[in-house]
Amino acid sequence: MSQRFYLTTPIYYVNDVPHIGHAYTTLACDALARYKRARGFEVFFLTGTDEHGQKVEKAAQAKGETPLELADRVMKRFQALWEKLNISHSDFIRTSQERHKKGVRHLFENIQAKGDIYLGAYEDWYCTPCESFWTETQLMDGNCPDCGRPTQKLAEPSYFFRMSKYQQALLDHIEAHPDFIQPRSRRNEIVSFVKEGLRDLSISRTTFSWGIPVPNDPEHVIYVWFDALTNYITALGYPDELGNYGKFWPVDVHVIGKDILRFHTVYWPTFLLAAGLPLPKKVFAHGWWTVEGQKMSKSLQNVVEPNMLVDKYGVDAIRYFLLREVPFGLDGDFSQNALVHRINADLANDLGNLVSRSTAMVNKYFGGTLPAPAAADATDTAFLARFPQAIATVDEQMNDLAFNKALQTVWELVGAANKYIDDTAPWTLAKDEALRPRLATVMYNLCEAVRLIALLVKPFMPETGAKILAILGCDRESQLDGHDSWGELRPGTAIEKAAPLFPRIEANS
Ligand code: MSP
Repeated sequence: MSQRFYLTTPIYYVNDVPHIGHAYTTLACDALARYKRARGFEVFFLTGTDEHGQKVEKAAQAKGETPLELADRVMKRFQALWEKLNISHSDFIRTSQERHKKGVRHLFENIQAKGDIYLGAYEDWYCTPCESFWTETQLMDGNCPDCGRPTQKLAEPSYFFRMSKYQQALLDHIEAHPDFIQPRSRRNEIVSFVKEGLRDLSISRTTFSWGIPVPNDPEHVIYVWFDALTNYITALGYPDELGNYGKFWPVDVHVIGKDILRFHTVYWPTFLLAAGLPLPKKVFAHGWWTVEGQKMSKSLQNVVEPNMLVDKYGVDAIRYFLLREVPFGLDGDFSQNALVHRINADLANDLGNLVSRSTAMVNKYFGGTLPAPAAADATDTAFLARFPQAIATVDEQMNDLAFNKALQTVWELVGAANKYIDDTAPWTLAKDEALRPRLATVMYNLCEAVRLIALLVKPFMPETGAKILAILGCDRESQLDGHDSWGELRPGTAIEKAAPLFPRIEANS
């Protein structure tokens, strides 16, 4: 039985259209999902949309449509973008779906039956855009400490979750599972927050109606974060143990942005503790993108539209850039200059030239038929030895979600292969008939190196990886698992002469 791997993106709000920040989280998950599949894991990769709540209700009102009409419309834009970005999700959950609502009600009732949900009254400062209550001391000059917008005093009857009861259990869990919250700096942030004391959490609202009604008290709708977080199990068919839920829960990693860390590492785990369900194995918070040095915002009109980028530069170039440019976990800045630079330097020059030079030489010197290698010399041995090492390193880096490092490791191989061409100087070998066996060895080693590089590149750039494999006469679907050892390419294989994979982009184009 193969090993399993379950990973999730956050579910995206439908009151905003998809931008580069959303694309980033989803792309990171896609690269990891593809990598794990390539390693033989049975992968469940979940994404979806977060459709309930006051923000959506208001946005729909402003547009003169029902919340569901708005959700239907925006959800399609997310789905279309995922298709365009070559996202390989296993399921797309919408919180307006019955399967979800059923699971949320079940979780609510389960926690209620355990005595950890009670009816009380809530009075505090409420930030509508963030759907969050704040205490007086948390406010910043009377405004929301998260978004800086004004808050209002709100009093309403509310169901409360006894979050305070789980403070110690949560701290113990974090202590016992050093990998639970990643990166490490984020873990410290959450530990300090929890140590300051957890209050009981208001988990229902009576001020709007677009949500899941509280079981047996339909005046209340369930708080949007209780509703949204539960998607991670409802999509698996919770509470039905027999299907995917029994198979894939607990999740291997929830990938999220740093802004929603507290919801995922304090609220969600305490809900699960109360319900007696296993906790996520890992929550990884990535950083935020600014654009040309500024915060991305509608008012600055600098929101980077991913469809436009893909049309202009191609899907694989965008996938590569976003995951290569910035260490996953840190903030980064998006600029067209940096993007063009990466495409030209890493893709057109390093990778593109390697593939075109190698395949062109096999065509020129061996009529496009891969020759059999002869005896290896010291240069060959040193070159070959890099591959198993790099493949093992990439595996560790992918397991740490260190995407930029994994790509760096792959590009060290690309660099080594380009250097191998320069060191062995095949054009000189070709001049001497007596050196033909040596030339054959160099050609074989180059093509085999390119094959392994293609397999490593594929989770990040699926089209490019498949294209390179096809050029080498390999199955486009070929994966790392079972094919990552040196020497699989068969002498006699027809090697195509590759057209440039990534044309150079002129600045200002
Ligand atoms: N609906 C909630 C998540 C519920 S999960 C149970 C939500 N949605 S969101 O659409 O606002 O954000 C989704 C993700 O996009 C978050 O992980 C967030 O960090 C990410 N990003 C939004 N803007 C971003 C950047 N500028 N840069 C990087 N990621 C950003 O929160």
